[in-house]
Amino acid sequence: MEVTRPGMRRRQKYLLAAGLTLLLGGVAIGAWLWWRSRPVPAALPDPRLAYPSPFRNVRPEVAYVAEDRCAECHADIAAKYREHPMGRSLAPVADEPDLGHYGEAAHPTFEAAGFAYRVTKQQSVVTHEEVKRGPDGQVAYALRQEVHYAVGSGAQGRSYLLDRDGYLFVSPVSWYSKDRRWGLSPGYDKTEYHFERPVQAECLFCHADQVAPIAGTANRYAPPTFRGYAIGCQRCHGPGELHVREQEAGEATAGAIVNPARLEPRLRDAVCEQCHLQGQQRVERMGRNLYEYRPGLPLELFVAVFVLPADQADHHRAVSHAEQMAVSNCSKKSAGKLGCISCHDPHMVPAPEAKATHYRTRCLNCHGHDVEGCTLPASQRRPTDDCVACHMPPRDSSNIAHTSVTDHRVLRRPTSETGHTPPRPLRPEQVPLTRFHAPTGKLDERDLGVALVRIAVGRQAPPIAALALPRLDDALIEHPTDVVALEARAAARGLVGQREEALQDLDAVLRLAPGSEHAHFLAATLARQLNRYGPAADSYRRAVAINPYNSEYQHGLAYACFRTSDWAGACDAASAALELNPARLDTRRVLIWSLLKQSRPTEAKAEFDRYRAFRPADEETVASWFGPKLR
Ligand code: HEC
Ligand code: HEC
Ligand code: HEC
Ligand code: HEC
Ligand code: HEC
Ligand code: HEC
Ligand code: HEC
Repeated sequence: MEVTRPGMRRRQKYLLAAGLTLLLGGVAIGAWLWWRSRPVPAALPDPRLAYPSPFRNVRPEVAYVAEDRCAECHADIAAKYREHPMGRSLAPVADEPDLGHYGEAAHPTFEAAGFAYRVTKQQSVVTHEEVKRGPDGQVAYALRQEVHYAVGSGAQGRSYLLDRDGYLFVSPVSWYSKDRRWGLSPGYDKTEYHFERPVQAECLFCHADQVAPIAGTANRYAPPTFRGYAIGCQRCHGPGELHVREQEAGEATAGAIVNPARLEPRLRDAVCEQCHLQGQQRVERMGRNLYEYRPGLPLELFVAVFVLPADQADHHRAVSHAEQMAVSNCSKKSAGKLGCISCHDPHMVPAPEAKATHYRTRCLNCHGHDVEGCTLPASQRRPTDDCVACHMPPRDSSNIAHTSVTDHRVLRRPTSETGHTPPRPLRPEQVPLTRFHAPTGKLDERDLGVALVRIAVGRQAPPIAALALPRLDDALIEHPTDVVALEARAAARGLVGQREEALQDLDAVLRLAPGSEHAHFLAATLARQLNRYGPAADSYRRAVAINPYNSEYQHGLAYACFRTSDWAGACDAASAALELNPARLDTRRVLIWSLLKQSRPTEAKAEFDRYRAFRPADEETVASWFGPKLR
């Protein structure tokens, strides 16, 4: 059969890898969502109940209240906070803060990666359009999509989300504030996601106030999609029910609401690390999910954050504020006294003209009191004595998403390369991750195993999967119903070629969590690799039934149908995939073949002409497969 030609196989493999990568984070996200409906294994008690905290609003039964309740009594703070970037982190496009980015001067059209993009706003409807033109300039396709939510105050930039029936996706088009221009969203230069990049709960955990992810899906949310758009007061202070009730009754007691300033250092910093410590990988602890975290509790009891080992990290550049702060001498030598709030007012950003004074005052809270001050003669620090300008300069290089701009290492002479050693090459047996927080002593190796698998899948690196396997084996002996670990082991086994064993793991996963989109997709992928196209088609169908908006599933279904001679099924699924993502060449090939098999040469020819608009390198080869029918 034509489809087994070697060129095709290579491409399939590549696309499979891309598909897996696309879903990468989904492994865990999808998985921890199931736990919502599952009993918690006894091994790890719920920290909201078990952790000895003087704050009573860390307990799970204390409810969040509507955010505007806080403003009733804290009007000043609420007004200030509304102007903070965190207070404007997300909004429906109808209400997005104006950045002057819809005027003509903002160049609402641009070209990138062989596509043309256009942004339009009419009344409160915003559309992003992607256009592909053929060699002769004619339009191969034009995909117009309405976008619904704007992410980002615009301090650095803004991205846009599409809401398809509660499934959220990132638009390929973002606004870049510094350059004042529209461009491809971060990461899209490396992978073409088009309008298909799923918005996982992890993303909204950091950028929105509250959402309710639907169990088993990678990116579907229960209506109303957002319960509070921008990050709210209770994300840093914890649920407000007790505090509001007591204040209203005039009988306030201690411990009803968390003030982070009163927490011991590691708990104080955890409040900010929720969102400001992305790390290389974040793995929810067994039986836990991110949204259970309450300010006042240790973050590492809910999520294990893995960062690069010291000899791999380039602390000068691509790391978070929390990691940079941790290597500063201000932090290392102040016995925990230095935290984010030593310098930042969490409710307010100082005005540009007040900045130097604001931060100098903060520095002098330590330097000049318990700690020695600047050794550079005062005469050389005139006229402004701007401590930050000399010790925390901005990084010069351009936009790297999600890394610090201002140098939070607080170096003596930051222009020198002090503390900056280039990353070393990874040694063969070296584990490429390390925990940011101290070990918890329970199931830490399990978390590392899961994190390693995600890295291994992302890089398509079997040696890293091999590092994960013994860790997951051990964890699963102790807790055989840990679905996250089971699914991770399935992915790892798939990568190292143990496909039968991988499928057994997935059977176990699907017995425990039958609604898992990702487990069905993984099972389909493995079945396909084993040339079992019937079972592959079944698994793809289940994935499609859970999430009809993923062209990777529809494409897989089309291909599996084709291989089982179900030409009509292949045509339907291929057409569905192309509607979601008209740029898929692999799918277009399946469609052309299926049309030919059904003796529909005119339609096949029309599809082939669209295919050629992409100028694929293999155009001639493909044409030769079809033979004279397409000429
Ligand atoms: C009915 C009025 C009222 C409402 C509503 C209210 N507060 Fe308060 N809050 C107070 C008063 C009064 C104080 C100061 C007295 C105190 O410290 O007990 C206070 C103190 C606080 C403190 C400082 C506690 C400390 O230990 O330093 C925080 C934090 C706080 N509120 C947050 C909130 C948040 C968040 C909300 C919304 C969920 C909220 N408040 C809603 C009246 C209110
Ligand atoms: C729920 C997630 C979340 C938490 C918790 C959180 N942040 Fe943020 N923070 C963000 C996001 C997202 C942004 C970017 C907002 C934007 O520009 O759209 C941000 C932006 C900031 C900024 C940049 C302001 C500017 O000038 O651009 C500072 C400073 C900051 N946060 C400090 C803190 C501190 C200090 C804490 C802890 C007390 C904290 N944050 C807790 C998510 C969070
Ligand atoms: C672990 C938390 C975390 C995750 C996950 C995360 N972000 Fe962010 N994001 C932040 C923080 C914190 C900032 C602001 C400071 C910085 O750049 O570190 C930020 C900055 C941004 C900005 C620039 C905001 C501005 O106003 O300048 C955009 C846009 C953005 N993120 C979009 C996204 C999208 C879209 C996703 C998911 C698909 C995502 N982020 C995932 C924490 C996160
Ligand atoms: C990004 C995290 C964050 C958010 C969001 C946040 N706070 Fe705070 N809040 C803090 C921290 C940290 C402190 C302690 C600041 C300090 O003492 O340096 C604090 C202190 C307070 C205090 C007591 C001290 C004071 O300044 O009076 C009140 C009251 C308060 N916050 C209310 C609110 C209200 C109301 C909102 C929402 C409008 C809110 N906070 C949003 C982190 C946050
Ligand atoms: C919580 C207290 C605290 C705050 C706030 C603080 N520092 Fe520090 N800083 C320290 C300590 C402690 C040391 C280590 C002193 C020593 O080596 O004995 C230090 C060291 C330094 C050093 C020397 C670094 C090196 O590599 O040797 C510089 C420069 C510095 N601080 C600048 C600042 C600036 C600028 C600010 C304000 C933006 C600031 N610090 C805020 C506590 C603080
Ligand atoms: C020693 C003082 C200091 C400490 C501690 C500190 N920051 Fe900053 N931070 C600054 C300064 C100064 C800026 C630049 C502000 C500006 O230019 O407006 C900044 C900027 C930021 C920004 C805006 C983006 C950027 O990189 O310029 C974010 C986000 C941020 N800090 C988060 C944090 C978080 C999270 C922590 C704790 C892990 C933290 N900061 C600790 C001083 C500090
Ligand atoms: C014009 C640039 C400049 C300004 C402004 C400046 N510093 Fe410095 N600072 C330096 C340089 C350069 C050194 C290193 C001097 C040396 O190596 O002898 C230094 C050294 C230091 C040290 C190390 C002291 C030690 O233990 O050896 C600290 C702490 C410090 N500065 C804090 C501050 C603080 C706090 C401010 C603001 C009040 C400030 N600096 C303002 C340039 C500056």
